[in-house]
Amino acid sequence: MRLLEGRVALVTGGSRGLGRAICLALAREGADVAFNYSRNDADAADLLERLQAAGVRGWASKTSVLDRAGLQTLARTLETDAGQIDILVNNAGVGQVVPLALMEEEDWDRVMSVNVKGAFLTTQAVMRGMIKRRRGRVLNISSLAGLKMMEAPVHYAASKAALKGFTEALAKEIGRYGITVNCLAPGILEEGVSTNLPESRLAEYLRHCALGRKGTFDECAEVAAFLVSDRNSYMNGATIVLDGGV
Ligand SMILES: NC(=O)c1ccc[n+]([C@@H]2O[C@H](COP(=O)([O-])OP(=O)(O)OC[C@H]3O[C@@H](n4cnc5c(N)ncnc54)[C@H](OP(=O)(O)O)[C@@H]3O)[C@@H](O)[C@H]2O)c1
Repeated sequence: MRLLEGRVALVTGGSRGLGRAICLALAREGADVAFNYSRNDADAADLLERLQAAGVRGWASKTSVLDRAGLQTLARTLETDAGQIDILVNNAGVGQVVPLALMEEEDWDRVMSVNVKGAFLTTQAVMRGMIKRRRGRVLNISSLAGLKMMEAPVHYAASKAALKGFTEALAKEIGRYGITVNCLAPGILEEGVSTNLPESRLAEYLRHCALGRKGTFDECAEVAAFLVSDRNSYMNGATIVLDGGV
């Protein structure tokens, strides 16, 4: 029996990067996987093919995590088609390398909105069904930048720190319904939001990282698949750091 056989998952921002790796890891463990994205249809179509090739049901939806009505329709449609949503991974996120002095108000709003409000809106859309079924797993993707003092853009660090608080308060609120809420905080990964980091910041990270290298999306996705599984039944409100030992 695979780890997630019979489960249905929704992964936000699944079309590329870490979200894509998580979708594929969940599918490999037997889950049917839906994901949303905001712009790139080609990436989404490619992932959908990969999910189908893995022998599970897959759904792609071009719905921003800031589109409240769209997310509610997505959750309703998925519950009708798939019967349930057992797992939610709040992965969609954006970053931007800019010092505070040069940060525009729109920069702050965009990063905080996608990274924090997006998790709120998506979780709210999915939560009712989980409460009704008295079962669910929510995993929020934070970042080491939200937990440790390190050189990171302040809006990004603030948004990722917010997800830790979101995780803990929500875990307390809905644990009584048999739903667990945890958080995964990766260090610097191979690509994605860390692509444009200045060399000096990367070098500083690598100097402090006991493994002396960046993490991969697959390494992170492996852990995510375990965290949302029924084998991980007593962890709740936790933030798991995955950083090679910084
Ligand atoms: N990469 C790292 O080093 C690293 C380290 C720690 C934490 N993280 C976290 O891991 C998560 C994924 O990062 P990543 O590096 O994989 O990023 P990425 O490669 O830039 O991928 C971001 C994904 O989110 C989607 N997305 C962006 N805005 C969206 C919106 N408004 N609504 C729905 N989907 C949206 C993108 O879809 P479109 O292409 O269609 O826009 C894409 O699928 C983020 O939360 C990030 O903070 C990453």
